[in-house]
Amino acid sequence: MAEDAGSMQRLAAVGGVEITDIDLSQDLTPAVKRHILNLFAAHPILVFRNQNLNNEQQYHFTLNFGEIEDQHVGRHQDSIKYGAVHTVSNLDEDGNPSGALPERGNYFWHSDKSYHDIPSLLTMLYAVQLPPTGGPTQFANTERAYAALPETTKRRIDGLRAVHSWESSRTKSGSAPATEAQIRERPPVDHPVARVHPVRGTKALYMGNHASHIVGMKLEEGQALLAELEAHATSEPFVYAHKWTQGDLVLWDNRCLLHRALTNYDMDQHARVLHRTVVRGTVPA
Ligand code: OGA
Ligand code: MN
Repeated sequence: MAEDAGSMQRLAAVGGVEITDIDLSQDLTPAVKRHILNLFAAHPILVFRNQNLNNEQQYHFTLNFGEIEDQHVGRHQDSIKYGAVHTVSNLDEDGNPSGALPERGNYFWHSDKSYHDIPSLLTMLYAVQLPPTGGPTQFANTERAYAALPETTKRRIDGLRAVHSWESSRTKSGSAPATEAQIRERPPVDHPVARVHPVRGTKALYMGNHASHIVGMKLEEGQALLAELEAHATSEPFVYAHKWTQGDLVLWDNRCLLHRALTNYDMDQHARVLHRTVVRGTVPA
């Protein structure tokens, strides 16, 4: 109990909010929908408790936030009609828990699909099956991290753009190397290192493991700057670790957060299964 209270304090400290009184399986009234959208405009992490959702219900809830992405390179699409609702898990092809899957990108700080011209606005995960302990998702508030930077650093990164690359991200995370076709399909893109939140007008650091270097800067110098900014943004004051409970649905704003999964559970023994949907964003500016 005490730990729960502490965890909710951390959520609030990082700008998130917990919602315990809304059943997302129902069609939302206009007032409830407006309430949720207003919460999301002000809070980058929404934690809904005690949900019981099938894929169709998660799909319809996701539509409230915009266009659902249905192309996920390197990911498994597992339902036909609601194929945009897909699974994040540590299960191998035979459905057995495994700690040695070839996809490892989620274990490194990132913002979803930042290697696209038009990256993801929000992602939501709905907890279906969980290990007895461990396996949280960590979130780092990069809007607050930007605000806390020394003015000299803000000036230094003003106008800088980072290259985001699917291929380099996979190498860095030790994932199966990108195929030629995937490299052609996902050529590197560049985005501002500090992007403006389209709703609040605030700046947030925008980098993470998909960011490989800085446009117009020596490779090592750009890499060092990105590493320094990531270390700052993911330091304790800006981080919340979500310890999952069955029935949690967590959604987050990729425009001002980094996130990653922790592997601190026995991945060869226990299943961790979450249902995922993603909403398309806008070109970062
Ligand atoms: C994701 C992701 C982290 C997790 O679904 O985009 O990074 O904790 N997941 O599974
Ligand atoms: Mn992710």
